[in-house]
Amino acid sequence: MKLLWGEVTEVETLTLDVFRMLLKFEEPFSFKAGQFINIKTSNSDTPLLRRPISISQKIDEYTIELLIKEIGVGTTQLKNKLIGEKVHLIGPLGNGFYMDEISTVSRVLLVGGGIGSAPLRGLYQELIKRGNDNIQVINGFSKNPFGGDYFKETDYKEVNEEEEKIFVTDYIEKEVDLSQYDMVFSCGPKLMLKRIAEMAQKANIKAQISLEEKMACGIGVCLGCAIKVKKDELNYTYKKVCVDGPVFMSDEVIFDD
Ligand code: FES
Repeated sequence: MKLLWGEVTEVETLTLDVFRMLLKFEEPFSFKAGQFINIKTSNSDTPLLRRPISISQKIDEYTIELLIKEIGVGTTQLKNKLIGEKVHLIGPLGNGFYMDEISTVSRVLLVGGGIGSAPLRGLYQELIKRGNDNIQVINGFSKNPFGGDYFKETDYKEVNEEEEKIFVTDYIEKEVDLSQYDMVFSCGPKLMLKRIAEMAQKANIKAQISLEEKMACGIGVCLGCAIKVKKDELNYTYKKVCVDGPVFMSDEVIFDD
């Protein structure tokens, strides 16, 4: 984890409320797929808190890509950054996806929900780099899909939930045999991740889920991102999404509360 300045080198509108930003650093920037940065959106005190943003992929040794959903003052400030402007950030943060159990022949399914599809780009990039091309990607969008081109070389399905009148999780339940996969990786809204966890358990396969939890400090100090996890069969404890996650094994997380 470092305190850094990144230079904005590109801002591109993808949909009405999603944009893509490239940040370039003076030194090489290393990260694991699934990690995030906590970014200061303005030089004033408004908003006071930094915004946690997933790193979507590596562009080169010095440059990363972020896909950002415009949901308030902070993200609008980011969208309005000019090329050449510097932004202050802390990162990379969190644990990222666990890759140790994935071999070159593992059949993996990546499931993204809306802006949760962003870190799946870096994961896909990492899997390809490791020689694994046995990858299926399914991304669901409530409306206004984006980013499909990125996955055009693989087995890709985009579910436009409004147009197709089906949630991405219902599509998977109906159309996909999860038992044929070795691992599911997913990022998106909590309700979607809960369904993915249930389906993975039923199919007897492992799933890694990346939680989009609200955060304040991003470095394990404020306890604002605590979630309930299983301690053993009978007991539970709490973990912090910012430092213990955002990626967890799905059978560890307790969703009902
Ligand atoms: Fe403060 Fe996680 S955001 S502990």
